[in-house]
Amino acid sequence: MHYIIANWKSHKTAAEAEEWLTAFAAQQMSIANETEVIVAAPFSLLAAVASALKVPALSHLKLAVQDISPFPAGAYTGAVSVRNLAGFGVEYAILGHSERRRYFHETHQEIANKIDQCLSAGITPIVCVDNEYIVEQAAAIPDEHRSQCLVAYEDLAAIGTGNNTALAEVLEQFKIIKAAFGEVPTIYGGSVNGSNTKEYLAHSDGVLVGTASLKVEDFLAVINAA
Ligand code: PGA
Repeated sequence: MHYIIANWKSHKTAAEAEEWLTAFAAQQMSIANETEVIVAAPFSLLAAVASALKVPALSHLKLAVQDISPFPAGAYTGAVSVRNLAGFGVEYAILGHSERRRYFHETHQEIANKIDQCLSAGITPIVCVDNEYIVEQAAAIPDEHRSQCLVAYEDLAAIGTGNNTALAEVLEQFKIIKAAFGEVPTIYGGSVNGSNTKEYLAHSDGVLVGTASLKVEDFLAVINAA
């Protein structure tokens, strides 16, 4: 299985999301077998995106969130719990993205708690790691949860810079990930675009796409390369 994940981060308005989905639907893309195309939308757009995905032309797209509360439903003002996602059809959650670690000071333990929450709700965690802390992050996650994660390797220097990490380096990091997490699917992220996707997909289980997921034509180029 190949996972192609659009990470919209905090970019889009509801109108822009609708425009993107309408343009995507109009392409009537045939998605290769064994390929899962996932859109990670901001919480505020989940209802709109979930509703758009009900049309047949978009029914092959899967929905993800970009974060989740480390706590269950309850008195946690401002947090979005897995219970709050009920009914939206969210199947995946990007967790521990380096932007969350860097700007929101998330710890390995908090990310492990978020993984716990997701798994309790049947949501598959896509755990992001950089080379400095693969082993520490894995160690914070209980064994039985670790094997249920997809793990995305993203070098900070490659995110949003146009400097995608050399394949040889990515493969080295995948080895470290598999040693720490077990035989989990490994995904590459960091300046993925239509021109470099094929190379990464030949050696990985997927790509996590930020900048090149924002314009529908750029994202279609990634899918077409798959
Ligand atoms: P990028 O972002 O494709 O813009 O490098 C990837 C990510 O942060 O997941």
